[in-house]
Formats: sequence, structure tokens, C-alpha cells
Amino acid sequence: MNSSFTKTPKHILTAGCLICLLGVNLPAAEKNNPGSRAEALLAQMTLDEKIGQMVQVDSKALKDRADVQKYFLGSVLSGGSSDPADGNSAASWLKSVTEFQDQALQTRLKIPLLYGIDAVHGHNNIDGAVIFPHHIGMGATHDPKLVERAERVTAEEVAGTGIRWAFAPCITVPQDPHWGRTYEGYGDDPALVSELGVAATIGLQGKQLSAEPASVLACAKHFIGDGGTTNGVDEGNTVCDEATLRKIHLPPYQATIKAGVGSIMVSYSSWNGVKMHGNKYLLTNVLKGELGFQGFLVSDWAAIDQISPDFKHDIEQSINAGLDMIMIPNGPGKANNYVEFIADLKALVAAGRVPQERIDDAVRRILRIKFQMGLFESTATDRQLTATVGSSEHRAVARECVRESLVLLKNEKQVLPLAKTIKRLVVVGAAADDLGVQCGGWTIGWQGGHGNVTHGGTTILAAIRRTISPATQVTFSPDASDLKDADAVIAVVGEPPYAEMKGDRKELNLAAADVALIAKAKASGAPVVTILLSGRPLVLNSALSDSDAFVAAWLPGTEGLGVADVLFGDFKFTGKLPRVWPASGVRSNSFEKPERPLFQTGFGLTD
Ligand code: GLC
Repeated sequence: MNSSFTKTPKHILTAGCLICLLGVNLPAAEKNNPGSRAEALLAQMTLDEKIGQMVQVDSKALKDRADVQKYFLGSVLSGGSSDPADGNSAASWLKSVTEFQDQALQTRLKIPLLYGIDAVHGHNNIDGAVIFPHHIGMGATHDPKLVERAERVTAEEVAGTGIRWAFAPCITVPQDPHWGRTYEGYGDDPALVSELGVAATIGLQGKQLSAEPASVLACAKHFIGDGGTTNGVDEGNTVCDEATLRKIHLPPYQATIKAGVGSIMVSYSSWNGVKMHGNKYLLTNVLKGELGFQGFLVSDWAAIDQISPDFKHDIEQSINAGLDMIMIPNGPGKANNYVEFIADLKALVAAGRVPQERIDDAVRRILRIKFQMGLFESTATDRQLTATVGSSEHRAVARECVRESLVLLKNEKQVLPLAKTIKRLVVVGAAADDLGVQCGGWTIGWQGGHGNVTHGGTTILAAIRRTISPATQVTFSPDASDLKDADAVIAVVGEPPYAEMKGDRKELNLAAADVALIAKAKASGAPVVTILLSGRPLVLNSALSDSDAFVAAWLPGTEGLGVADVLFGDFKFTGKLPRVWPASGVRSNSFEKPERPLFQTGFGLTD
């Protein structure tokens, strides 16, 4: 027992509470009762300790890690680009996360930290981790068992770096593909999103959230209507009646809550002009009341700041609406920082503007999850999990996901599968050898990047070279300037990496340069196989007619061999469109109102 206990007044620290806190000698039933343990701990806590649990700070904003202890912080996150100062390997992440946790365990009540990260397609911030297809590709698999296996792999790699909370699955139901986060959704059909969202939740948490070392707290996001905004504007306004909101956007939350999801992130967007972060009816009456959600609600990154220009007003509005934990990316020296938040919330409670029972409800929910995850018994990391980061077994699962995600939209004269013994193959398009384009946003950095963004991946070009026969001559001509004597041309085109609002588009046309590249390939007279790397369906114009075969590959991640597996016939095409494919860039190409789509949801050739 460390010195802080001896200073604590005896009436605070009863033996029972001490036993409860340390979880020692508890009868099994008691230890397995997170609710009563949370209640007992809550009764010991000061207001400062309670408010601290409701604060999640970005690791980059914590210049002084000791603030975790000083302010009793309940959570730290690493946003899309908040990496440890001393490198991006699994080992340096584990070291950094452990240092934050050590600070929390030195507080009076030793309440362990919950560390969160956007592991949205594998453990995508960490160099060398396996990067899975983004959700739109996983949606094309229509395979819940495979989604569960993929998230199990992700959970093992996340837990291997000491982190036990993933801000996933995103269970948005994107309606307008102009939205930059279309690829974060499994598809435009609520039933598909519900089925795969449940599979992902179970993959991350296990059959139920537990003290298992690789049981990682899932976070269904972003509640509600993030994918229904007018014109697909990110963080925009979803205008519809309640029946439509419930029909399209609510089912995945009903399903994942039934599957035991332990946290839900609230959406930046608004519903009929009211910011979700201030919507008490939907957050408290519907989510916690009607749906009986027992976990806790976390805000999005500085999202409460968007409620009004007055931070203290934002705090009052969001906490009273039902937010339990607030994600704060700002440290001392910046506006709306975590020190200011704590002082403002404390003042609001003192003034009766935020009821004490609202604070207690929030902290109770957070503590219940931490007890359920066994964090009070142990925050140690199983080093065998650390060793699984980027393992060949994990890459094999991701390669299977890539295979099942590919959708064959056209295959004239059975051009595909190509023979491995083809004599002369020309590959065109810079994207064929760009791992960053293959992975898309949320990869190592928030926006992703071009080139070799991470170790251990295989580009589509490298995969082709590893799959064809030694006698085959492969030429890589990014601009299609060398098509001489080609027996077939593979054109790899697509979108540059992006995330969130940076990916919002006013039009959906495939880039003119890509259309021209495919036309150039066609002019060679050789069969043209086009592979599209994109976070959404694009308007193809002549690109489709100029291609003999056309494959939607979405954003497949690091395992390019999965593409070659199907191109050369080792596996059949099984992917089916997870959303309508627009014929032109008309608006509202949604599940509800398809405007003469080029291809319907569910379309996909098998050969
Ligand atoms: C981002 C995203 C959210 C993510 C969070 C933390 O702005 O909206 O999906 O989990 O911030 O990175």
C-alpha cells in the first residue's frame, strides 16, 4: 500500500472499499459484479476524481503525463496522427501507453486508465500492423464471420500495444457517396450494416466484454445520422422525420447494443438543425432509455465546441444531454482545454446547472466498463499479443478479406481470370505500386499518404509479380507509354488517400487522367483489366466501356496478394456491391431513392 493511503482520512478508506478497489479476496460473485463494485467505488470518490473520469485527453495534448495523475483522468486517446514521440513501432506504443497507465495507477484510488485509438481497419496507427480493407470493402464481402475474424485480429494487435479501446466499428449508413466518410460505412442498407456491426463488436470485445487480455472495448459510431447529411457534407445536417431516422440509422445501434457494445461515440452532425452532442431526447431518452444502453457515451474530437461559442455552455448542454466522457484534444495554452473543462464542469455542478446525479450516472457507467474489463485486477499486456502485430497468420486473414471484397462489375469475353503463364503483361497506373493509395485514409496518419506508408505490405504490382510464372514478362508503365506487344493490360486507378471532411466531393467522376489512361490502354488493342481503388462508387463514364473487365477493389489495405489471388484464378470473385453504384453524379443516390443506378446494391459477377 503506498503512502497516499496512509494520508487518507480513515472514514474515507474503509477496509471494504480497499478490498473492493484492489479486487483481492473478493468472492467470485462480487468480483463478477461490476455494478456493485462501481457503486462502492463511486461512494468513495471526490467530485474532482469523478469529473476526472469523464475526461479523455489526446496524448499529444498531454505535454506533462503527470497531469493524468494530477487531474485523475479517466482516459487518454491517440487521434489519427498522435503517435509516441520515440517511434511508431508496436514496442514504442506499448511503452508510451504503459507510461500513461502508470500515472493513473498512482492516484489515490488507483482507477486504471482506458486508452482509446481509431483501429478502424486493423491497428492502423502502428507501423507494421496489418491493414484490412476499409469497411466498404468488408461490406462487399457480406460475410459476418469473416468480419468477426478480422476484428479479432485487430483486437489482438491493439491489445498487444497495451490499448484496450478501439473507436470501432463505425456503423454509419452512408446515403450520399459525396461524403468523405462513405468508405467507413459497410454500406447503404441498414440490415447489412447491422449484421456486420454486430460481427465487428463481437470480434473486438469477444462474446462479451471481459477481462480477457484481448477483449477490446468496442465503440459504435457516430450516433446518429452521421451518414445521412444533406449532400453528404461531413459534420453536416441530417434533415428527415423521426420515422426515417429510425428506419435507416437506428437499426445498427439497436443490434450492437443487443450484442453488448460497451461504448458509443456521438456524431458531430445535427438532426434537423440540432447538434447531436446537445440532443437530450436522442442521447438519453432514446439511446439510454428506450434502447437501454448500459455503457457510456463519448463525444467526438472537440465536438462539444461546435454547440456554441461558449465552452462552459457547451459543457452544460452536452453533459446534461447525456454525454458521459468528453474527448478533448487541447492542452494548457489552447482554448477549450482539459484544465478549463474540469474547472467549468466543477463550477456547473456547484451552481446546480449540472445535477450531481448526472455526474454520478456518467462515472458509474465508465467504472462499470472498467470493472467488467478486469482493469482493476490487471492492466498488464500479454506480450504474446505484441508479437502478433503484423504476423503472417494475421496477414492471411486480411488477404482473405481482400479476396472476398473484390466486386467484378464487367468481364467481357471472360478476360478474367488471366493465365499465370501469360507471356507479356503491362501494368499501368501509378496506383498499382502505391501502398498508401491501396490503404486509404486512417493509415499511420489521419489522412493516410502516398507510397510505402507502412512496413510489411504488398502492392498490387508486387503481388502480380509474385503470382505470375517466371516466364511472364511484366512491364510497369505508370503513364501507359510502353504498351508494346502486351497480351493484356492491367490498369490500376483510383482516389488519393483522404479522411473525413477532406474527402467530401462536389462531383463523383473518376479522374479525367484515369479515364484517359484506360483509353490509352484500350488503344493498344490488348484486353484491358481495370482495377479501381476508391472509398466509394465513382461515375465511370467511358472507363467502363473502355475496359474489358472492371474490378471494384475499394481500399484493400496492405495485403495486395488478395487481389492477385482472384485476378489469376486461384480464387473466384464472390464480392457483391454493398451500395448502389451511381450512373451519374446526381444527388441522393441512396438506398432509399436510387436514381437509375449503373449497378444495384448486391450486384457482382462471379466470373
Ligand atoms: C475524429 C472522428 C472519429 C474519431 C475521433 C478520434 O474526428 O470523427 O471517428 O474516432 O475523431 O480520432
